[in-house]
Amino acid sequence: MNSSWHFRRLDASDAPALHALEKACFTLPWSEEQCRAAFGQTPFAAFGLDSDRGVLAYISVYITADEMEVLNLAVSPELRRRGIGHRLLALALRTAAKMGMQKAVLEVRVGNTPARSLYERHGFAVAGRRPRYYADTGEDALIYARSLTNYDAAAEERKELHMKTLIAANWKMHKTRAEARQTATAIAAGRPASNERTLIVFPPFTAIAEVAAAFAAQEGLAVGGQDVYPAEKGAFTGEISPAMLADAGASWVLTGHSERRHVLGESDELVGRKTAFALGAGLHAMLCIGETLEEREAGQLEEVLRRQLRTGLAEVSAEAAARVAVAYEPVWAIGTGKVAGSAEVLEAHALARRLLVEVLGSVAHDIPLLYGGSVKPDNAASLLALDNVNGLLIGGASLEAESFLRIAGAR
Ligand code: PGA
Repeated sequence: MNSSWHFRRLDASDAPALHALEKACFTLPWSEEQCRAAFGQTPFAAFGLDSDRGVLAYISVYITADEMEVLNLAVSPELRRRGIGHRLLALALRTAAKMGMQKAVLEVRVGNTPARSLYERHGFAVAGRRPRYYADTGEDALIYARSLTNYDAAAEERKELHMKTLIAANWKMHKTRAEARQTATAIAAGRPASNERTLIVFPPFTAIAEVAAAFAAQEGLAVGGQDVYPAEKGAFTGEISPAMLADAGASWVLTGHSERRHVLGESDELVGRKTAFALGAGLHAMLCIGETLEEREAGQLEEVLRRQLRTGLAEVSAEAAARVAVAYEPVWAIGTGKVAGSAEVLEAHALARRLLVEVLGSVAHDIPLLYGGSVKPDNAASLLALDNVNGLLIGGASLEAESFLRIAGAR
């Protein structure tokens, strides 16, 4: 999609387009008249434009002497999962901070969990409550506020970058160097033009340098190792250090993949040491978690994920957390063709997010959560559309460039 984004003051002539967008986004949209009235007066507003199809997203803000009030944030369903709401809010906050505003405020329905987590991720905290404020449902309104006096625009931009969708290929024990080079070259040539997705390939150790060469340090393409040992060097026959991975061109590493845990017997504790050591050495780490079928059937999902996250991220500092991703891969869905259903993925990802916050605090809202297990070109779009699914980790269907690229471009 050919989108361009810019701030412009909305005016009454935008009312029909905004009303159409409102209708697509809310059960109780503003009428065209209300849009006309509001946007005839709003002192300042931001919006996103798709060049072919009119306004597909907007944020409206009201400005008083030193305060910005976010009135509304609407993103069309087709753009919703692409982080556009996040970008519009960041843009509005950055602009308000530059204009010298002291504070940003907004109100939100208690039951609007996705919006609340978006605002919380941007540093808003509950500052009050209006009981039974919404006439349609009788819901309470929560008043959120954040100070803009020490607004760190650079840090916010970094966060935004980190929220890009990650599409990762785990090639496991497949491909010679020549085969890896060929597939990586095809991936680099055919990747989606949009820069909203980062593609990461985890080839076998012997092919890391080949893939890195084919990717030629292009933005949005990265290489990683499938495993790492938690020591700089020494008598560890068969193992590989973070520095060796980095030397071959890797910037990422997978830790705790289910095959390492279940085929090679790795403990949670060893996975934790690997993750912390790799992060300490400057790599990005993708920690894999997931329950077996027996554990799920015994009702142990929460217990297993909590243990794997607690132990797996035990020694991770807040600074290093910016380089962590977590892949939820139910063991029973890996390589079996049995993809977890939407309800199961939604539930497990919401749980994983909650547990991540329990372990790492508020930085956990910015950690990408990937789903893995029998992801294919025809189920990728519906998985990516789920809340808290910030990317995919793909095994079998990543071995052919064509199939991996279809997944990487899925919307
Ligand atoms: P699969 O593997 O896509 O072949 O199920 C996923 C993984 O093991 O990471």
